[in-house]
Amino acid sequence: MRRKIVAGNWKMNKNYHEGMELVAEAMHMINDELNTEVLTIFASPFIHLANVQKLINGYSNFATAAQNCHHENSGAYTGEIAASMIHSIGASYVLIGHSERRQYFKEDHAMLAKKVDVALENHLSPIFCFGELKEERENAKHFEVVANQLKESLYHLDATAFSKIILAYEPVWAIGTGLTASPEQAQEMHAFIRSNIETQFGKEVAVNCSILYGGSCNPQNAKTLFSQPDIDGGLIGGASLKSRDFTTIVTSFNSI
Ligand code: 13P
Repeated sequence: MRRKIVAGNWKMNKNYHEGMELVAEAMHMINDELNTEVLTIFASPFIHLANVQKLINGYSNFATAAQNCHHENSGAYTGEIAASMIHSIGASYVLIGHSERRQYFKEDHAMLAKKVDVALENHLSPIFCFGELKEERENAKHFEVVANQLKESLYHLDATAFSKIILAYEPVWAIGTGLTASPEQAQEMHAFIRSNIETQFGKEVAVNCSILYGGSCNPQNAKTLFSQPDIDGGLIGGASLKSRDFTTIVTSFNSI
């Protein structure tokens, strides 16, 4: 069965000390309050990552993710971080294709496909992020856009490689705006994504693929979103920066 997952993407927030305090508090609360087998992932900035990993070592319900990796294995790329380095500190995941990387760093489909490959080669599972812009939804292009994002960066994989990927549907108009996709809109898209995966990789892969929702997910709306049949959890931005809010989102699975 596919896993229920909540990942906190801190983006470029929290200094080292604030970040470590956040993880310690959230772990404590989640371990106290959670009854289910939800995987909680901390996608901290690189500066925290090795020490966050040390805090979670030994807990099967926690993992770490990098927010990015370079598309080459190593070399003269000043300031960049390689997938092999991320793996070497014990992290299991890496975000690839976040809309902020696509928008501000001009990462295109081909570059994201390379990043997916380099992550998998280095034993990291990509959390592949994608989703349509506001204008694309307004022009009823959202299904086409999403299908194309999946095809261009992921369909070169075989079913075994694809089964290591977590998908995160994040409509760009919902990110950081307070505008959440309604549970019906999100479910409709998640069901569409799963049926595309089934066509490409087969039923078993599609049924076992975790598809997360991201975009203004918060303690108030998490439960209704996560109750939808094709929504397996969330990728949380702003609300992952407060241990109480993040814990409430993770533990909303307790009453589903
Ligand atoms: P917000 O939850 O702040 O809208 O951000 C979502 C996101 O981009 C997570 O990757």
